[in-house]
Amino acid sequence: MKHISLTRYLIQEQHAGRINADLRLLIEVVARACKTISIAIGKGALGGVLGDAGTGNIQGEAQKKLDVLSNDILLEANAWGGHLAGLASEEMDHSQPIPDAFQRGNYLLLFDPLDGSSNIDVNISVGTIFSVLRCPDDVTAPGDEHFLQPGNTQVCAGYTTYGPSTMLVLTVGHGTHVFTLDREIGSFIMTRRDVQVPAETKEFAVNMSNQRFWEAPMQRYVGDLLKGKEGPRGKDFNMRWVASMVADVHRIITRGGIFSYPLDSKCRDKGGKLRLMYEANPMAFIIEQAGGAASTGRQRMMDVQPTGLHQRVPVFLGSRDEVAQAVRYHLEDDAGA
Ligand code: AHG
Ligand code: MN
Ligand code: MN
Repeated sequence: MKHISLTRYLIQEQHAGRINADLRLLIEVVARACKTISIAIGKGALGGVLGDAGTGNIQGEAQKKLDVLSNDILLEANAWGGHLAGLASEEMDHSQPIPDAFQRGNYLLLFDPLDGSSNIDVNISVGTIFSVLRCPDDVTAPGDEHFLQPGNTQVCAGYTTYGPSTMLVLTVGHGTHVFTLDREIGSFIMTRRDVQVPAETKEFAVNMSNQRFWEAPMQRYVGDLLKGKEGPRGKDFNMRWVASMVADVHRIITRGGIFSYPLDSKCRDKGGKLRLMYEANPMAFIIEQAGGAASTGRQRMMDVQPTGLHQRVPVFLGSRDEVAQAVRYHLEDDAGA
């Protein structure tokens, strides 16, 4: 395959009538911001970017310097392009309309500027996750309520993983494609077109230290995975947990698997650990476009009607048949089986 750049791919999509010029610009701007974040992360201790910022976000989490820096980079890059009506971020209490000084467009951008913050200081892969929605037609200055659209209305979703190489994984609703950053020329180059996540898997990702806090169906599901060949699933399973959602999802995009962050008694009151609008939904769109599945354990992720910008949900996503198995344990338990 002759490798094509992100720019060329986007122009082809525009000429095919699948995206418009504004969405193309939006993706280019986000990709450029991610390159800037990638450079800052790559400098590490030499750039003075490691460690705590000394502040907290609305989620009650301590912010790392890179959480704040990445948020600022994405905000600044997207403010003046004319393609957005508003932005929302994990690191901001409320959404922000594009300032009056700039032209406003028709899209809403949501992001987790730096995912996997606990891994920053130990030099393990982190990432950025983003989701694009349409701004409702009659709205010129969007508020939080205008972002509360189910995942099935997303027009674009992507993530960047800052690992040994920097990669951008993107969908505009016509397949999921992988781009690798060529650092010499500064461009994202398509390295996998139309990724397909294998339907079956022998690998699961979960934070096992939470086991005793899980709900009964999750206990049974993982219990059966651990029984291996001799158990009801009839095969031995391997386990991986990076604790950066982007890195765990990227492994699944590459070789299949199931990722889960289920409900547990510690996060039950909040609805889960991971955030629907800028973690679960964009990943669900990317995974479904790659032939996988994404669920709360009881409902298709992208059909959840959001009620809050920072709403949390239980997450099961990855290889289609394995996600169906996890859902089966939950539904059977609910039905009292
Ligand atoms: P963030 O750094 O954006 O707050 O997200 C961290 C998330 C996610 O990336 C990861 O899967 C999960 O938190 C890890 O949680 P544990 O530390 O509980 O394993
Ligand atoms: Mn995150
Ligand atoms: Mn984050």
